[in-house]
Amino acid sequence: MKILGIETSCDETSASVVEVVQDNIKVLSNLVNSQVDIHAEYGGVVPEVAARQHSKDTIPIIKQALSDANLAFTDIDLIAVTQGPGLAGSLMVGLETAKTIAFVQNIPLIPVNHLVGHLWSWQLKLPKELGKIKTEFPYLGLIVSGGHTELVLVENYHKYKVLGRTVDDAAGEAFDKVAKILGLAYPGGPEISKKAVLGRGDKFDLPRPMTKKRNFDFSFAGLKTAVLYKDKKIKNKNKEYVNDMAASFETAVIDTLIQKLKIAIENYPIKIIAISGGVSANKKLRQEIKSTFAKNNIEVRVPEIMYTGDNAAMIALAGYLLCNKKQAAGTASGKKSYLELSVNPNMKIK
Ligand code: KG4
Ligand code: ZN
Repeated sequence: MKILGIETSCDETSASVVEVVQDNIKVLSNLVNSQVDIHAEYGGVVPEVAARQHSKDTIPIIKQALSDANLAFTDIDLIAVTQGPGLAGSLMVGLETAKTIAFVQNIPLIPVNHLVGHLWSWQLKLPKELGKIKTEFPYLGLIVSGGHTELVLVENYHKYKVLGRTVDDAAGEAFDKVAKILGLAYPGGPEISKKAVLGRGDKFDLPRPMTKKRNFDFSFAGLKTAVLYKDKKIKNKNKEYVNDMAASFETAVIDTLIQKLKIAIENYPIKIIAISGGVSANKKLRQEIKSTFAKNNIEVRVPEIMYTGDNAAMIALAGYLLCNKKQAAGTASGKKSYLELSVNPNMKIK
């Protein structure tokens, strides 16, 4: 089965072709056109600008993904497209493009929750490498991105239990805001981690928000504010200060995430933790989570770096898994026509 994935939920336009043959999976192509440079001058994503850029980029990138895979639309068995959550205008460009292709080419279409895409992204091998789809349940999924911080118990392909999520800023958002405070470029996550390796993580005493509560919710806005207050008191903001504050902040985020994961493994029979989303590219986060849970014989799965950020390969895979496990894909003439689908900017995992 060959699946065309389309992802336009935020500021990345992405298209991918994934092939699955009896649980053997291969990413034939995965193209991501990031708008990061366009939004950098505003210090964050501007929704209207993002949607306009998607409408320029989506069709060319789909054509390129097919061409990289040496395929034509007639070879595609299923289209998987992100329905939400995300920016309404951005999502609309991807969904309407997908509906049009599906209708004209008579290909089934399945709408995918972007977060479910992230949850499965660790399964994807590098393009052209052969992998095997793993089915081990339950596992604990931690999504840490610019828009989301969610802890999810994945019980099977269709059963997801959200244990907790952020009550304010997402982890990536906090990285971006703290980078701004420290005068670093956008997106802030990679900049902070570059400075953090040069600094001392124990230099500034920062809070580990909500870790005293035995629930699974997160809060990163207070941590960012704590950095802001400390920053205001510093007179000489030299390189050493920036490195130390970056390291202290990064350590606080990682500690907080690990403490919540620890509570989760005490409460659920977990043998696997899978992290995903843009922040899961963070080297220290990966190392610390792996080494902490190795002591509990818990395997930690991480996506290839190219699949940590938003990408269409994860949407194609999620579309396949949902469809293959008997959730019928809509047809244009079927009872529940996909032509009636609309975007869901606040889509939740269910
Ligand atoms: O998943 P993603 O590409 O987009 C969303 O769906 O939000 O995540 C982007 C976020 C940004 O906030 C960025 O600063 C953060 O991921 N990020 C990182 C790193 N690389 C990207 N955060 C910490 N460390 C990194 N190495
Ligand atoms: Zn995402």
